[in-house]
Amino acid sequence: MATAASHRPLVIAHRGASGYLPEHTLAAKVLAHAMGADFIEQDVVMSRDGVPIVLHDIYLESTTDVAQRFPDRARADGRFYATDFDLTEIRELRVHERSTRDASGREVPVYPARYPLQPGLFGVPTLAEEIRLISGLDKSRGRSTGLYIELKAPVRHGEEGLDIAAAVLKVLREEGYADRPQQVFLQCFDDLTLRRLRHELKTPLPLIQLIAEKDWGEDSAVDYDHLQTARGLAEVATYADGIGPWVEQIYLGRTGGGEIQLSELVALAKVQNLLVHPYTFRRDALPEGIDSFGELLDLFLGKLGIDGLFTDFPDLVVQYLARRFQD
Ligand code: G3P
Ligand code: CA
Repeated sequence: MATAASHRPLVIAHRGASGYLPEHTLAAKVLAHAMGADFIEQDVVMSRDGVPIVLHDIYLESTTDVAQRFPDRARADGRFYATDFDLTEIRELRVHERSTRDASGREVPVYPARYPLQPGLFGVPTLAEEIRLISGLDKSRGRSTGLYIELKAPVRHGEEGLDIAAAVLKVLREEGYADRPQQVFLQCFDDLTLRRLRHELKTPLPLIQLIAEKDWGEDSAVDYDHLQTARGLAEVATYADGIGPWVEQIYLGRTGGGEIQLSELVALAKVQNLLVHPYTFRRDALPEGIDSFGELLDLFLGKLGIDGLFTDFPDLVVQYLARRFQD
């Protein structure tokens, strides 16, 4: 497989093969494995009783039936927080394709062309369960697939008395992955958590500084505009091994004359020897001014030469790379 140190760009299955099956279900992870993803992503939050679970949001209602099963457990803001539920309760939930509410309040899928918005088949896995699944598939399929773990909302978890960084490292130790730097990345939007992982918790695993936009409400005080400057990236290089920027922090759109506009972020990161793993490459949600998934891949993997990418469609990127690189 391509590893953290190899030159073939890494295919990171974003929330699994989430373009085909509901995100972060074990089924989506099996499919990503079968499609040949180099790494499979785990977004991690914690249950009330301190168990790391694989879930993108700190809330449960956008991908599970929590509102039907536990209708009186929303907070005053109307949201169902994972940290308000013990693991035994989370195990009762059924996962569905990501949904939202339309203007009339009706539940609708975020990506209409994907898996149907039907309940029933899938549960929320713990991080340990997912690692065991991937490890088992590696054995039966003769592969070595990587974990790409994001620590979600570490500040908020800390406010609730939950140390998500320590908890994730504990699971990795228990599952035998804590000392496999070729096979595990840790990623986070919060710089202080990454600095702590490196300097206090002393993990040998490669760390990726995710870069958001400041109006997204990530629970970190870090200045994401500064992180994209030469000085900011020099600071990142003191505690992390790479960056995970949003695609549109690199591809800025087109001029009136149709010319593609790019930021300097990739070049500035390379000066610091930082890996660049942008997110998220979706066939069904292309940036404005990009006409096809192939054009997007040509730009990032051909022209820009990034080191890896997060995609909901790992099969398409694996196929693309097979055409460009000899395995
Ligand atoms: O972790 C990379 C990418 O997944 C960040 O965005 O919101 O999908 O976790 P998000
Ligand atoms: Ca993520």
